[in-house]
Amino acid sequence: MIESASEIKTIAVLTSGGDSPGMNAAVRAVVRSASAYNVEVFAVYHGYQGLIEGEFEKVESNFVSNIIQRGGTILKSARSHEFRTVEGRLKAAKQLKERNIDALVVIGGDGTFTGANILSKEHGVNVVGIPGTIDNDIIGTDETIGYDTALNTALDAIDKIRDTADAHERMFLVEVMGRDTGFIALETAIACGAELALLPEELTDITEIKTQLKNMLKEQKRSSLVIVAEGDETGGALKLAEKIKDDFKQYDMKVCILGHIQRGGTPSAHDRVLASRLGAAAVKVLLEGHNAVMVGIVNNALKITPMRVAVSKKKSLDYALIELAKLLR
Ligand code: F6P
Repeated sequence: MIESASEIKTIAVLTSGGDSPGMNAAVRAVVRSASAYNVEVFAVYHGYQGLIEGEFEKVESNFVSNIIQRGGTILKSARSHEFRTVEGRLKAAKQLKERNIDALVVIGGDGTFTGANILSKEHGVNVVGIPGTIDNDIIGTDETIGYDTALNTALDAIDKIRDTADAHERMFLVEVMGRDTGFIALETAIACGAELALLPEELTDITEIKTQLKNMLKEQKRSSLVIVAEGDETGGALKLAEKIKDDFKQYDMKVCILGHIQRGGTPSAHDRVLASRLGAAAVKVLLEGHNAVMVGIVNNALKITPMRVAVSKKKSLDYALIELAKLLR
C-alpha cells in the first residue's frame, strides 16, 4: 500500500465513445493503482448513460484480472445524448454525490473529454481523462490508446488486399476509419506502399487524382491501392469510385471498406503499455490535486494537459509524413 495525503478516497471509472483496443488495459491500471493507494473504485457501465442511470459497481483489484489482453471494453461504451443536456449532467453529478465519489476517470476521445470538462465546471466534479480512440486525433499525447492496434489491423487487411489486387491487376479503393483526421489513412498508406492516400486534411481534386493514378499506372504498375480516410471530403471510397471508375475500366475497380474491424481485436503490446502508463498516471495526478486534465505521453514522458485545451482542436498530421507518402509511392 502506498500512503497518500490526498482527500480523494473514492473514484469512479468509465469508458465512453467509440471503443478502442487497450481500453481494458487502462481500466485495469486505474483499478490496480487506485487499490495500491487504498482508494476505493466504482466501475460505471455504459459510459455517461450508465453514470446518469446509476449503473455503478464497487470493484476490487481482482475485477480486472485477465482483461489486459482483451479488445473492446468490459465496462461497455455508449454515446449518450442525455449527457449533452443540463438535466442529464445534473443526474450524473447526483449519482456520484450519493455514493460519495470524489473523482471520475473517463477513458475516451474528445467527445468524452468535452462532457467531462462541462461536468467538472457545472458541478465541481474532479475529472481526469485518458485518451482512448483509434483515431489518434487528440492533442497532448503522441498516441492515443488503440491507435497502434487499429493501424496494424488495417495494415494486415490491406496487405491481403494487395495480394489479390496484384493477382488480378486491379485497382482497390480501401476506406479506413478516421472521421475527422487521416492518421490511420496516412500511416497505413506509408506502411503498405499505397499509390495514393486521400486525407481529410488535404483538399481532394478529382481531376488531379485521375491524372496522378494514370501517370503511376503508365509506369509499369499493374495494380494499385488507394487509401481513403472515411472523413475525406469526397465522402469515402464508394463515392470516390463513382467519380473515377469510368477512367479506369481496365483495372476492374473494387471498393473495400474496412469499417469496425479496425476497432476490435487484441491490443498490441504498445497499446497495453501505453494504457497501463496512462491509467496509473490518471490516478496519480488526481491524488496530486489535478482536476479537469488529460494525461498523455509526449516524447516518452507524462504530459498533463488541461481538458479545455485537449478539446480545443484536433491534432495535426505530420506534414513530413504526407510528403514521405508521396515521395515513396
Ligand atoms: O472515433 C472513433 C471512430 O471509430 C471513428 O473513426 C468513426 O468515424 C466512428 O468512431 C464510428 O463510430 P460508431 O461506431 O459510433 O459508428
